[in-house]
Amino acid sequence: MNKKRVLSGMQTTGKLHLGNLLGALNNWVKMQEEYECYYFAADWHSLSSNYEETEDLEDNLMDLGINWMAAGLDPEKAVLFVQSLIPEHAVLHLIFSMITPLPWLERVPSYKEKMEQVSNKDLHTYGFLGYPVLQAADIVLYNAHYVPVGIDQLPHLELTREIVRRFHDIYKCKVFVEPEGKMSHVPKLPGTDGRKMSKSYGNAIYLSDSKEEMFGKIKNIITDPARVRKTDPGDPDKCVAFSFHKVFSAPEENELTMTECKGAARGCVACKKSLADNIFKSLEPLLEKRAYWGQRPDEVLGILKDGSVKARKVAIETLSEAEDAMRFNFSKILPGVR
Ligand code: TRP
Repeated sequence: MNKKRVLSGMQTTGKLHLGNLLGALNNWVKMQEEYECYYFAADWHSLSSNYEETEDLEDNLMDLGINWMAAGLDPEKAVLFVQSLIPEHAVLHLIFSMITPLPWLERVPSYKEKMEQVSNKDLHTYGFLGYPVLQAADIVLYNAHYVPVGIDQLPHLELTREIVRRFHDIYKCKVFVEPEGKMSHVPKLPGTDGRKMSKSYGNAIYLSDSKEEMFGKIKNIITDPARVRKTDPGDPDKCVAFSFHKVFSAPEENELTMTECKGAARGCVACKKSLADNIFKSLEPLLEKRAYWGQRPDEVLGILKDGSVKARKVAIETLSEAEDAMRFNFSKILPGVR
């Protein structure tokens, strides 16, 4: 009883890849044993940088739901829901947007970086600047204590805490929990070219890829550029395939790989073949379950629907408390409309 509450979200911008699985999803699955978990598809967030590409959002949500079930999320243990089905996120986002000073948003590192680095998308919108305000609303609606996120998201958590304090300060209340970010300590898996694994870099291995597609991508993982021929000694520390081995292969095998690579006793083709075997072995149970859930789209949607109904009850209650604190709760004065 009295478990601490955990909440986290995933965008529905693209299909899930190995980086999402190892960086987030596996950790979510573990946390559902220990905490009361709320996990959701952040589909409104996906609009913030991809507002023109709405045609894939429904497919991406389906892919997300299938992967969640295949990875072992359990609707008996965690509430699995869809953000855009819960309008309270949008209402609280609006309220928070009124009290959030612009400079707080303009100095968020992910915002500054993307504005500087991303040139193929239009990020000069109100929604993109307000991305972390919506995230703050997501989190506090469910009174989450812990938010498992990657390191790049920690400033969003800090901002959430600042918004919460400001709300409490202005409206002389204490309705929200100040959440804490919880970094997961997982081995870092790069993309096949050594950069961060990401849809936009074209270096991702997707959970929905066929084995042939996966194998093709594994074969193309960048190796030590100084090792041109099999007879050249290699340096595993400069090899992206070896970073994959560190995640998927046994330590003893990696010792041997290291020795044989440095001594030019094993070529990259053989090394990647055994990497592929290890990746397939570790993904096998998930891929089998993906096939199972892939044939049951209606069940997956049903799970997301039931979770959303549960989540909405909590969201309605928290929003109402916040509106009470503001002495501005027309859904109480004029009930039956909202
Ligand atoms: N910004 C998160 C990401 O890109 C997704 C997200 C949206 C989220 N709302 C959230 C994560 C609330 C945790 C809590 O990964």
